Amino acid sequence: VFKMDNDIERVLYSQEAIAEAAKRVGQQLAHDYENKTPIILVVLKGAALWAVDVMRYMEYTEVEFINVSSYNGGITSSGEVSLVTDIQSDVNNRDVIIMEDIVDTGRSLKFMKELLVQRGANSVKTASLLDKKEGRVVEEDVEYIGFDVPKAFVVGYGLDYSVNGKELYRNLPYVGILKKEVYAPEHANLVDHEITPTH
Ligand code: PRP
Ligand code: MN
Ligand code: MG
Repeated sequence: VFKMDNDIERVLYSQEAIAEAAKRVGQQLAHDYENKTPIILVVLKGAALWAVDVMRYMEYTEVEFINVSSYNGGITSSGEVSLVTDIQSDVNNRDVIIMEDIVDTGRSLKFMKELLVQRGANSVKTASLLDKKEGRVVEEDVEYIGFDVPKAFVVGYGLDYSVNGKELYRNLPYVGILKKEVYAPEHANLVDHEITPTH
């Protein structure tokens, strides 16, 4: 029994359901990138768990990391995306698969796609655990989707919520909706994709 489980109102996607989704997406990628050696671009920090589970089903790949931030710590999204940690290799002429935990406004994804295209990537596709289509501010499509997620206050399996300056819940093996008392306004430090609970 984990204490963290008590902070969860409802499990949206179980560990088993996520494992199935990772297998489905991973096998699709293995098929679509057959005879290629794509770069799996893991978007820190949220996509770490998803990327690891998906890439197990793939053939020859390289793994790179990037960290972008679209928030300035306020209660709403700043709208501006900045590069926190850059990729460590040349993407010129490479096929890149962006691995995300969630695509919400689409701003982070747009920023990364433009960066990769500008650097001469041969192709850029996205595989996201969650696609929150209702949250879109800029038009961005996700080619490989684990789950279409409704507007809800989700944490777990990479997705965090900040409590007293600590980014918690990333290590939950499932995705769940956080209890109201945990994300009450007085605990704020909310970010855009986490601030719109359905109940
Ligand atoms: C979250 C999420 C995506 C991005 C999606 O990352 O992991 O990268 O925001 O939001 P958008 O579509 O509105 O741009 P965050 O910046 O919270 O960093 P983290 O992954 O380290 O938690
Ligand atoms: Mn992220
Ligand atoms: Mg976050």
